[in-house]
Amino acid sequence: MSPVIGSETTNEAAWSDLERHREQLTSSSLRDLFATDPDRGERLAVSVGDLWVDYSKQPITEATVSLLTDLTIQRDVTGFIRRMLSGECVNTTENKPALHTALRTPEGTTLVVDGTDVIPGIRETLCQMADISRRLREGCMLGATGKPITALVSLGIGGSHLGPAMATTALAHLAHPELAIRFASNLDGTEITDALDGLTPATTLILICSKTFSTAETMVAAETARAWLVDGVGTDVSAHMAAATAATDLAGHFGISPELTLLVPDWVGGRFSLPSAVGLSVMASIGPDAFAEMLAGMRVVDEHFASSAPHSNGPMILGLLDVWHRSFLGASSLAVVPYSSQLSEFPAWLQQVSMESLGKRVTTDGGLVTGQTGPVVWGAPGTDSQHAFFQMLHQGTESVPCDLIGFARPIADPRIAHQDALMANLFAQGAALAFGMTADEAAAAGTPPDLLAHCTFPGDRPSTTILAPELTPAVLGQLVALYEHRTVVAGAIWGINPFDQWGVELGKSLATNIAGELKGNKSHVAHDSSTNSLIGRYQKMRGHST
Ligand code: F6P
Repeated sequence: MSPVIGSETTNEAAWSDLERHREQLTSSSLRDLFATDPDRGERLAVSVGDLWVDYSKQPITEATVSLLTDLTIQRDVTGFIRRMLSGECVNTTENKPALHTALRTPEGTTLVVDGTDVIPGIRETLCQMADISRRLREGCMLGATGKPITALVSLGIGGSHLGPAMATTALAHLAHPELAIRFASNLDGTEITDALDGLTPATTLILICSKTFSTAETMVAAETARAWLVDGVGTDVSAHMAAATAATDLAGHFGISPELTLLVPDWVGGRFSLPSAVGLSVMASIGPDAFAEMLAGMRVVDEHFASSAPHSNGPMILGLLDVWHRSFLGASSLAVVPYSSQLSEFPAWLQQVSMESLGKRVTTDGGLVTGQTGPVVWGAPGTDSQHAFFQMLHQGTESVPCDLIGFARPIADPRIAHQDALMANLFAQGAALAFGMTADEAAAAGTPPDLLAHCTFPGDRPSTTILAPELTPAVLGQLVALYEHRTVVAGAIWGINPFDQWGVELGKSLATNIAGELKGNKSHVAHDSSTNSLIGRYQKMRGHST
């Protein structure tokens, strides 16, 4: 097992117990742990809805899980979860609840926040989304010239893009064959150009996803798209623009009609907003029924999260393992490897969920944290990633915990016999990472003596395997909720606010200032010498005089 790289100083008994326990475990390899406890592969696992979550290849024993659950008691994680689910103000720096789970509550639920039941509003938006989706899918949503709309272009960034783009790709096999769904997020003009390429304004709906309706990237793209629509159909483009936003007044000023303005409640964080109106592109693509299945999948995990004891609570255990790795074992990153091409955008979605939530150095009460918080999250689909970064995972100097996600039944035509080969790779990688290959084993396998050092594998590289029957909307919803809740658990343990994102503000305001300077073509801007020089060179290269 890896040596300790750093840990938190705290007076809590649970934390000190875990530090002592880590010292005892350090001498046990994963080989040792499996040798002394041969059944751990069945026992150190948990069922969460349709997901089988096997964490037996993690550097832990049942004692570790028990000590980590003691920590949840000392840090009142269960209380934090209860307050989050009931709509209390858990996002204290922004003074609001974090109530994304309300978006997927069953019919008939009541959830009163500040004296108002929030469920009727959610149902109303879902009905509005379903109505738009059905009309798009049935070819009876007409544009300004009377032609049916056949393309939806979703503009948005961060949480107003990553979830919908990820889910639309993940469920591409269910996509409506005659409705084009495209996305543009980046301020780089090639994205909107590509998104609009080949489309006709008269048959296109532009969906502006922005909770604040003021994010620079999205508003620039929205202006470009509106000009494109006006060029194509004339000044009344209201039949061609919709919005998913909390700032309905700003959407109105922009020219979005009330019928095509979908409310995103203020208490839904951007990165948790896939089940909100921001997901209209997903619903239009797969249909309202499949979207409802995705919400039902999320709900299964929400209910499991709310009701399971810590030691059998999947999101809780995964969040605790994240804390174990980061705070006790010094792991600085988490790799996420879905064995599914259609989950290619899952790591990018998770990057925002995890890193915007847990990338904090200040506790909720404003003090500095004393140890480490969220890891770098990265990843790419297997098997491509095996031919890219797995060399480092197997033989690099740092141990990187990773999640391997796989499915029993293929999305591809089952006559194409790829699935067993694909999953054989997932199982093989988990075993190779955990148990490696000793020099003796390599020699016995015929490795020449001069290559033995290169061909041994240290093992002890931890992984969690998540196995599901098939990538259905319900299973995707379960995966989304599993990772959302896991993130919240780690945040609650570290005592940071997993729902704010103040760290994105400084760069935004500097960019606004510099954009103003560039617009005015000012030659003497007052930044540091590096920034001044870069701006000057940029203007010269761009052909502006300085
Ligand atoms: O990156 C910061 C952020 O505020 C994210 O949290 C959010 O998902 C994204 O910008 C987009 O914000 P909006 O939906 O308000 O345009």
